[in-house]
Amino acid sequence: LKIGVLVSGNGSNLQAIIDRIEDGYLRGAVVCVISNKADAFALERARRHGIPAVVLDHKSYAGREAYDEALVGILRDYGVELVVLAGFMRIITPVLLAAFSAAVMNIHPALLPAFPGLYAQRQALDYGVKVSGCTVHFVDEGTDTGPIIIQAPVPVFAEDSEESLSKRIQVEEHRIYPEAVKLFAERRLNISGRRVEILPAPD
Ligand code: GRF
Repeated sequence: LKIGVLVSGNGSNLQAIIDRIEDGYLRGAVVCVISNKADAFALERARRHGIPAVVLDHKSYAGREAYDEALVGILRDYGVELVVLAGFMRIITPVLLAAFSAAVMNIHPALLPAFPGLYAQRQALDYGVKVSGCTVHFVDEGTDTGPIIIQAPVPVFAEDSEESLSKRIQVEEHRIYPEAVKLFAERRLNISGRRVEILPAPD
């Protein structure tokens, strides 16, 4: 499976996916990493593993659609089959979704449909929930609304800060994102309406 990863920041989820490819858990290759930010540490992570690291600055494009057309061009050049959003802080448009139908995934640091959008961990703390977590989902035209693939819960403690909760959630992110990509690579994800059926592993 040829994977293209879109990033804006640290890239710890990118790292988790690279690591699980290198240790043989996941059969595939990250063929390109694209960032809208030139200083994203994720780009450095890509380079360390010999993966092409591309900066595509959104400020050079007239609008979201024009930007996404450029993204699609690069992803196609690398033969990408699955687009993985990993801390990519841009709203994507139907231009990208049409080019990669049912093949764009995202990870969100809450148990959707709770706390979509920015600052999900802050939202969870402010609300006072006792459990939060993370969600890997297919991307649709809404914000964090697409069909859910895997979720993992984590406890929220009274003494938690945004940072401590984020850290606990990230441990689970790094476990379930490679798992979701593996299921996709094995063609074991079947989308029917809102639901994603996980097919059993062939024996
Ligand atoms: C993660 O918390 C993810 O859930 C959210 O953005 C963050 C990205 O972290 N979508 P990283 O860049 O993968 O370290």
